[in-house]
This record gives sequence, structure tokens and C-alpha cells, in this order.
Amino acid sequence: MPFPKHRPRRLRKNETIRKMVRETTLSVDDFILPLFVTYGRGIKNEVKSMPGHYQMSVDNLAREVKELKGLGIPAIMLFGIPEYKDEVGSEAYNPKGIIQQAIKAIKNKAPELMVITDVCFCEYTSHGHCGIIKNNDVDNDATLEILAKEALSHAKAGADMVAPSDMMDGRVGAIRKALDENGFQNIPIMSYAAKYASAFYGPFREAAESTPEFGDRRSYQMDPANSDEALKEVQFDIEEGADIVMVKPALPYLDIIRRVKEEFNYPVAAYNVSGEFAMIKAAAQLGWMDGERAMMETLISIKRAGADLILTYFAKEAAKILGR
Ligand code: PBG
Repeated sequence: MPFPKHRPRRLRKNETIRKMVRETTLSVDDFILPLFVTYGRGIKNEVKSMPGHYQMSVDNLAREVKELKGLGIPAIMLFGIPEYKDEVGSEAYNPKGIIQQAIKAIKNKAPELMVITDVCFCEYTSHGHCGIIKNNDVDNDATLEILAKEALSHAKAGADMVAPSDMMDGRVGAIRKALDENGFQNIPIMSYAAKYASAFYGPFREAAESTPEFGDRRSYQMDPANSDEALKEVQFDIEEGADIVMVKPALPYLDIIRRVKEEFNYPVAAYNVSGEFAMIKAAAQLGWMDGERAMMETLISIKRAGADLILTYFAKEAAKILGR
């Protein structure tokens, strides 16, 4: 019987001792802030379900990134809202497209900020699906070709890392090959390796204007009930050349983060998605929870589960708290 010899409360007596035995710490270096860039000038539209987040035109975005430097946030993830959408999302690989312009403007203002780009088609296609549609479904192999083109075009514009989020089979290999054949051997790939078909993407789809016109994404994104399958997805992505593997969403999938971390010796990223952000913000606005504490507890839980990197809409707020 450990008690009364052992009293775990001894190590919780005050903040000093709690700090000394703390197992997990958060750092601003862990954060990647997602940003939405839209066409036009002088635009800064707040996303209703994501307080403090905006669709921003390139001019405003360039201003925003200066603030990030001050906060010490090392990286951003860019999502583009193009002026024109078509069946095959051709704006995604237009050398003068929205993301390509944004990368150049950001690199101009803050060259040391790591610019990661989301490689996908849902924001660029008229139907809102993540690739080319054939027979009412996304055609895997046809989509691989345009994904490789999109990633290459981001690299040419100056992106530091590309992050495919489409969940097509074989996309990491296709992108790695295209990058290598064009002299971009040193551009890493962070794959959305275990990406689930989740209701928690709701607010994002308003922000990125990427809701599918018909059906849903369940024929390509993963079934929330599966865990072994996540390991298979991660394994394939690593074999195809992924440098960092991501689990998404984060909170409902902490067990997956942990399994991936234990199984592979690879950096693991977790995406604390829009719905996870919105539910904390909404509850805090209603006075139902302490939003700041819920935010920090959420972020530490993701880190504790095994994530090395956290994509989060809380990056700025959390950086301010960590810096105090
Ligand atoms: C697809 C993409 C999505 C998110 C990131 N990349 C949406 C989707 O798969 O429908 C969601 C991110 C979030 O909810 O914060 N390009």
C-alpha cells in the first residue's frame, strides 16, 4: 500500500514544484498559424465562426506577417481563395495565382518566416471537391498529376514546404518526384497523412469557401472509427517520402497522434482544426468556460499526446501567453 508513505500531492504543493516536475512544455516554436488569402486589395473579412481570423488580400497579409515575427511564430500555413474556380481547379497552379502571389509578398516582407502551402483543390474547383471528378467521385490518378503541378508551382513561387491535404493515394510520391525532377530536392513535404472525414472542418469551409457542392469527402478522407488504418496511411506516406506526418483533426484523435508517434521515428504534426477552435471560442463568448485556460489545456494535450508541431488558430494568442 503506497499510502501514507507516498503522497503525490507533495509534488503539487506550489507552482515552483509543479514547474520542476512538469513533463510537457509548450513553446512558440511548436506553432504553425493557418492563414487565408483572398483576391482583391484592402480586404480583411472576419470569418464569422472564427473570431480573430480573416480572409485577407495579399497586401494585408504582408502586413500581418510582420506581427508574427514579433511574436516569434516560426511558420504559417497558407490557404488560397481564388477569384475564378473551374472544374479542374486550374488557378491552383497558375504562376500568378493567389497563393503564388502571396508567397512572394510574404517572402519579401519576412524572409525568415517559414511559408508552408496547403496543396489541395477544394478551394479551386467549382464543385468544391479535392480533385478531378469522374463518375461523381474524385478520380485518384488524374488528380495526382495536377497535385504535382500545384506543389511544383508553390515551390517555384518560393514556398519553404508543401503540405498535401487531399488524401489521394500516392500523392506524396507524385509530389516528391515532381519536386526532385525540377531541382527542389530540398523542399520538404508535410503530408496530411491521417486526415479524417470530420465535422470539425465546418468553420474552415466558410473561411476557405470550399464546401463540396454535392456529396461529402468520405470516399477519400478517413473513417473516424479507424485507427490501424491511420498507421497504414502514415507508413505509405513515409515510404513515398513524407518528411513530417500530420494527424488531423487533433482533439478527437489524440490516440492516433500517440500511436503514430510511438510507431514511427518521424516528426508528427497535429492540426487543431477550425471546429476545435470555434467550440472553445463560442463557449468562452457565452461565459460557459474560461477560454484562455481551455486553449492552453487543449494545446498541451496535443503536445502530450505526441505532437511535435501544432497547426492552430490559437497560435497568436498562445504565443502572447507563453511570452509573458
Ligand atoms: C482541404 C483542407 C481542409 C482543412 C485543411 N485543408 C478542409 C477539408 O478537408 O474539408 C480543414 C482545416 C480546418 O478545419 O481548420 N484543403
